[in-house]
Amino acid sequence: MNDILKVKNLCKTYIVNKRQLHVLKNVNLKVKEGEFIAVMGPSGSGKSTLLYNVSGMDKMTAGNVIFDGHQLENLSEKDLSNLRLKKMGFVFQQTNLLKNLGIIDNIILSAYMAKDRKRKDVNKQAIELMKRTGIIELVDNDITQASGGQLQRATICRALINNPKIIFGDEPTGALNSKSANEIMEIFKDINDEGTTIMIVTHDVKVASKTERVLYMIDGKIEGEYNLGKFNKNMDDSKNRESKLSQWLLAMGW
Ligand SMILES: Nc1ncnc2c1ncn2[C@@H]1O[C@H](COP(=O)(O)OP(=O)(O)OP(=O)(O)O)[C@@H](O)[C@H]1O
Ligand SMILES: [Mg+2]
Repeated sequence: MNDILKVKNLCKTYIVNKRQLHVLKNVNLKVKEGEFIAVMGPSGSGKSTLLYNVSGMDKMTAGNVIFDGHQLENLSEKDLSNLRLKKMGFVFQQTNLLKNLGIIDNIILSAYMAKDRKRKDVNKQAIELMKRTGIIELVDNDITQASGGQLQRATICRALINNPKIIFGDEPTGALNSKSANEIMEIFKDINDEGTTIMIVTHDVKVASKTERVLYMIDGKIEGEYNLGKFNKNMDDSKNRESKLSQWLLAMGW
């Protein structure tokens, strides 16, 4: 499999009160197409910053990021936002759905912005995604008429509407109860089985244990990684995966 993401000596430095704060310190990382990755580590270790910089949402201070053959640091703002729009999907802890639009309109919006498909086809796909994520009964609702778990499913539909190559999630299950979190992970698992690469930040061992490879960040660096291998729903070894991962995390200082 090709590397969809190649990160070389990535640095991010903020200036806070005239002092430099080195948040990412020469991070190196390769993500293969179709991988499912979790990023863990203490609060403030730079997990979100890593996600924002490898996805071009934030501007790196130094280093190289190659996403799907595009060298991000060489792209203009316009090309970068076009790349994000068409090839990346984002899911955050807070759903960031637009309040004045209906749920389905929120899902469809970025496909209209991409302007490369007929509206009829986009609408059809939105309906299919809503069916698939179990929220089709909300097709006529606005966002005040849905639960947190349902809204997070809607953001997954929104992230998928342009058929991205990768989904980035920053604590996508962080605001959900464990049942909803589990359901979201099942949706991610299915999407990943179909070939979409997924990279999520999480504090939840149970969530991370369903991914394939776990990176552990400490103080702006990836200090270790644990290969769990693909999760197979039919093998029912989730308890075993969780306990292996927990032991490794403890050894990492979790
Ligand atoms: N815009 C910013 N300006 C200055 N410092 C920032 C900025 N964004 C993040 N930081 C700092 O960078 C460090 C890493 O932040 P980041 O949000 O990446 O951590 P995190 O690992 O995602 O933490 P958490 O688990 O709490 O979400 C922190 O010390 C934070 O205060
Ligand atoms: Mg964070």
